[in-house]
Amino acid sequence: MTAHRILVAPSILAADFGHLAKEVGSVIAAGADWLHLDIMDGQFVDNISFGPGIVQLIRGLTTLPLDVHLMIERADHYVPRFLEAGANSITVHVEAEAKHDVAATLRLIREGGGRAGLTLNPATPFATVEPHLPNVDLLLIMTVHPGFGGQSFRPEMMEKVQRAGQLRDSLGLEYEIEVDGGINVETARLSIENGANVLVAGTSIFKHADYAEAIRSLRDG
Ligand code: DX5
Ligand code: ZN
Repeated sequence: MTAHRILVAPSILAADFGHLAKEVGSVIAAGADWLHLDIMDGQFVDNISFGPGIVQLIRGLTTLPLDVHLMIERADHYVPRFLEAGANSITVHVEAEAKHDVAATLRLIREGGGRAGLTLNPATPFATVEPHLPNVDLLLIMTVHPGFGGQSFRPEMMEKVQRAGQLRDSLGLEYEIEVDGGINVETARLSIENGANVLVAGTSIFKHADYAEAIRSLRDG
């Protein structure tokens, strides 16, 4: 098994949208590894964020990997548009299974040249993602209920992070383990200790006076 590098993915949701290009430039200069882009449709979650147009705008500003997190009901319908807009990885929710065939959507992402990500809400049992693990490049463990930035981290989700690591080893898989929601220096450390290697953070980076210091301290503790 290859060692997974610790990566920090600032969530643009917490940026100042009045100065989006400047904010994106600042987190890149501050050492961001990926940019995390939260897409919300007002149906799957009770919030509406932005769509492929903003992803395309950000694509024009950077060559860093764009990590698109779809909190929408019809991920299958929109995957081609987000790939076209320049997404590198696309993560879909297992809960939306009633609205689309998750296995087929993961294939659609890979066939379109993207990295396939799967995620689950805090209330969703880990067993729901298990059948899909051989077909994902990224497993995102939500550490808050999705929809809004600025919520408190749920430490009980570390059990899922551990399970993700154990199964990766026992099945001989390579997916990255990402955490999203309430990530700050303390919860980043806890997540890394439990086996996560990709840290999504909105508030703790964009509300920090020094983005470089915020990113460095998430990565290095
Ligand atoms: C929550 C989103 C997160 C969110 C993280 O629905 O998926 O990516 O922006 O924000 P913070 O770091 O503020 O919890
Ligand atoms: Zn997210």
